[in-house]
Amino acid sequence: MSSSVKVVVTGAAGQIAYSLIPRLVDGRTFGNKKVDLALVEIPQVVDKLEGLVMELEDSYFPNMGNVSYTDNFQEASKDADWFLLVGSIPRGIVYNGKKIEERSDLLSINGGIFVDQGEAIGNYGKENAKILVVGNPANTNAFIGKNAAKNESQLWMAMTMLDSNRAKSIISKKTNKNIADVKNMIIWGNHSPTMYPDAENISIDGDLGSSILNDQNWIQDIFIPSVQQRGKAVIDARGASSATSAAKAAIDTVMACEHPTDSGSCFSAAISSDGAYDVPEGLICGFPLMRMDDGSIEIKRDLSLSNFAKKRIQISVDELLSEKEAVKHLMK
Ligand code: NAD
Ligand code: LMR
Repeated sequence: MSSSVKVVVTGAAGQIAYSLIPRLVDGRTFGNKKVDLALVEIPQVVDKLEGLVMELEDSYFPNMGNVSYTDNFQEASKDADWFLLVGSIPRGIVYNGKKIEERSDLLSINGGIFVDQGEAIGNYGKENAKILVVGNPANTNAFIGKNAAKNESQLWMAMTMLDSNRAKSIISKKTNKNIADVKNMIIWGNHSPTMYPDAENISIDGDLGSSILNDQNWIQDIFIPSVQQRGKAVIDARGASSATSAAKAAIDTVMACEHPTDSGSCFSAAISSDGAYDVPEGLICGFPLMRMDDGSIEIKRDLSLSNFAKKRIQISVDELLSEKEAVKHLMK
């Protein structure tokens, strides 16, 4: 076995985690590396993790290393390479007598979690740690966490891979192509109903979406709203928010960061803007990303955006700016 990797997962007793955690140690996500797991939950349910650990032991995962569980996030953070921050409350449930309808309604409930966790990651995580925020509202939670971490060598991301996978599925049905042939499906902006799934820059068998999908009405009236509202559609159908597809998307994001991106390709996640594509610096915004040979993650800067795309992205960026304003009190 070549080396090891330590992964912290919060919300480890939740729905997403139940699909996610076994995949982290199955030998596929991190290849030949030994995977140490530090599972984190709130004190009320942390003991349930004993059952999950029993199941992991019973599953025969030769690449699984040490597995620990705790309600002490700081302790879990020590020397971790990866943080999958899933722990938070989903929408679709009744909280304090009110049904949570929009992901942004979760800002006041979940936002605070990411101050303490961010601080601990900045202090105790590895210098080159990668952090993927899944808990909603994912972009602004990542913004809060990154601000609290104050450690510029670590990489904070918010997950948009699920939206990208959903969009690929819709395009593959529309074009009768295998989903694996739909590449470079980028989600710009916020993981919210304002997100902009970019059909123009996808590539299918080397052809750009802008040249294959000649149906702007379909893009505007069917494709974009379907991707934007898919999370709600799943909640309505399932009575709970997406879990197995969210777990798969988290794994896809980790794998995209672990392996160099093919030349000319990109993957979707939200990271802190450095001003690329005129997105204000510091916002955690969905971008086209590449994993470079040295392990760093870079924004792909050569996509062209139509005026339609620019307008749609601006709507989502404006929403991120208003979320930033709403969490001002959490910034130190
Ligand atoms: P869940 O309710 O099944 O599990 C969440 C778990 O988090 C619970 O066990 C809870 O005890 C735990 N938790 C809460 N606060 C915590 C804290 N401070 N530290 C550690 N653990 C904590 O919910 P779920 O279905 O697993 O969803 C988790 C989150 O992921 C939700 O916010 C949901 O909206 C979000 N989500 C995001 C995406 C995405 O694409 N970004 C997709 C699906 C779901
Ligand atoms: C999703 O997109 O499925 C998640 O963000 C859950 C939700 O609230 O929609």
